[in-house]
Amino acid sequence: MAGEAEQQLRAYLEYLRDMGVHDFYRQGDPVSAEVRETPPPVATIAAVEEQEAAPVSNRPAFLEPPIATLVSFNDLAPLPESRVAPAHKADALVAIKEEIGDCTRCPLAYAGRRTIVFGDGDANARLMFVGEGPGADEDTSGVPFVGKAGQLLNNMIQAMGLKREQVYIANIVKCRPPANRVPEPVEANTCDQFLLQQIDVVQPQVVVALGATAAMYLLGVKQSLSSLRGRWHSCRGAKLAVTYHPAFLLRDPRQKSEAWKDLQMVMAEMGLKAPAKS
Ligand code: URA
Repeated sequence: MAGEAEQQLRAYLEYLRDMGVHDFYRQGDPVSAEVRETPPPVATIAAVEEQEAAPVSNRPAFLEPPIATLVSFNDLAPLPESRVAPAHKADALVAIKEEIGDCTRCPLAYAGRRTIVFGDGDANARLMFVGEGPGADEDTSGVPFVGKAGQLLNNMIQAMGLKREQVYIANIVKCRPPANRVPEPVEANTCDQFLLQQIDVVQPQVVVALGATAAMYLLGVKQSLSSLRGRWHSCRGAKLAVTYHPAFLLRDPRQKSEAWKDLQMVMAEMGLKAPAKS
């Protein structure tokens, strides 16, 4: 546990150094004039107000957790005015991948990541699954959902009458969080610009959020999974359904029948039929 905490602290320090934040300890003026004069972006004003109203802490400001803002993918950016033609979607995804490059935009770049796990599947998919973040197997292979949870996701896709190659699969963050912890808000909020672009390019008919983290960031709400399941939400012009994360279903297989109900809702919307049992 101490090792994990140390690794995370090192990752944050390297990240801050890389971002040019190096004058925390300057006497009396920890914030440069340039930064002080810059008004906060509109999206963070509510969070700043909330923070200002909160009880004063004795901890130095730089040790406080980053301000967590939750903004739905619908509110992050307007929908594109023109859409990428089906024949150009694969190239458009390659362009996003190139824009990401050897990313060092968030602390996960320094926390033991081996591979950036961009996304996988049909650029013209009608159905897109969004998970939380890569695990060890994905970090090694560079492909999302290839470990045990991925095997179960493959089975779920097959049960819906589809092949894995026919859907598109991505995650909230593209780099493995150390010890598979839940992504921090600063990590998810940094990475979401690329997932948003992927959704806008693929333009699926339906997005399935796998688990609470995916649902929280895509929808910009922090609610229980049970309150979000069983009804439609919207995301970037697509219908969005929420279901359990396959890793959770591996831990509690009794919930598989509930997840199947969610997938059946998706199948009805998309006109999919379960394959006949052989
Ligand atoms: N869990 C996820 O959320 N995503 C993956 O790619 C693998 C496991």
